[in-house]
Amino acid sequence: MTTAYDWTGRIGDVWAAEWRRTDRSFTNLTPHLNAAILATAPLRTRKIIDIGCGAGATTLATAQALPTTTVTGIDLSPNLIEIAKHRAEAQANASFECADITVVAPSHASVDLYVSRHGVMFFTNPTAAFATLAEAAAPDASLVFSCFAERAANRWATETIIATGGDADAPTSITPGPFAFADPRYVADILATSGWHAAAPQRIDFAYRAGEGSDSVTDAVDYFRRIGPAASAIRDAAPEERERHIARLTEVCARHSNGDTVEFPAAAWIWTARKSAE
Ligand SMILES: C[S@@+](CC[C@H](N)C(=O)[O-])C[C@H]1O[C@@H](n2cnc3c(N)ncnc32)[C@H](O)[C@@H]1O
Repeated sequence: MTTAYDWTGRIGDVWAAEWRRTDRSFTNLTPHLNAAILATAPLRTRKIIDIGCGAGATTLATAQALPTTTVTGIDLSPNLIEIAKHRAEAQANASFECADITVVAPSHASVDLYVSRHGVMFFTNPTAAFATLAEAAAPDASLVFSCFAERAANRWATETIIATGGDADAPTSITPGPFAFADPRYVADILATSGWHAAAPQRIDFAYRAGEGSDSVTDAVDYFRRIGPAASAIRDAAPEERERHIARLTEVCARHSNGDTVEFPAAAWIWTARKSAE
């Protein structure tokens, strides 16, 4: 799979090294997604797939909440899958597979529920991908996923972009990318044309946790130097410019520090859809 996001390579490896801090960044979003998953799971749910499971947080939480259901996390990154397997080794109903969901979905038919925390906006061809998921789904299957809302509402992105010399008003890519599913009309069209009947998405405004602990500002700066839009700007800058970027990033994180935590305003959509009648 060729995308701007190299999940099987460097980006997947950084996410694997940083899985605790990426999980933590979603601390205030995850309970909303997990509640939507449990509210949507069909009564006789037997098979759930977590799309782009990363280090397995959603797979694990779902498997714990639904112990008689089989939950399989699927991700492109071998390093993330290794971490997920290790985290869930005591959870007998959770398993993991390193694969492209758009390739292996048919071998998992029939799926009762697909879930995903921020994994689906990286599909190269989202309409084809969701159509493949629908074909592999049981007749009454559902889909629940989260994705970021517009970048302007995600100040962890805009402020770190500006701090590191970028243009936070530049157009965001439609697909694939963290803001590819920001526009609900675009996502609604994709779902409708690929065999899914979606409800209006739930908007969640939440605090994106970038840093924690006794030196939460340094923790947040370290995190943004590894993950997100500031990381590549800092990496690619000449030494003097790099120092200026880091100084400005530190100021921005300090402004969002609440002592023990550094949190930025953020917004996401939670989508729920049912497989359309054939
Ligand atoms: C932003 S990360 C989210 C990871 C995890 N769901 C979480 O919440 O921590 C997106 C994940 O989707 C995975 N991914 C993207 N496209 C995929 C595909 N076609 N099949 C399987 N995994 C995919 C990536 O490898 C990456 O781990």
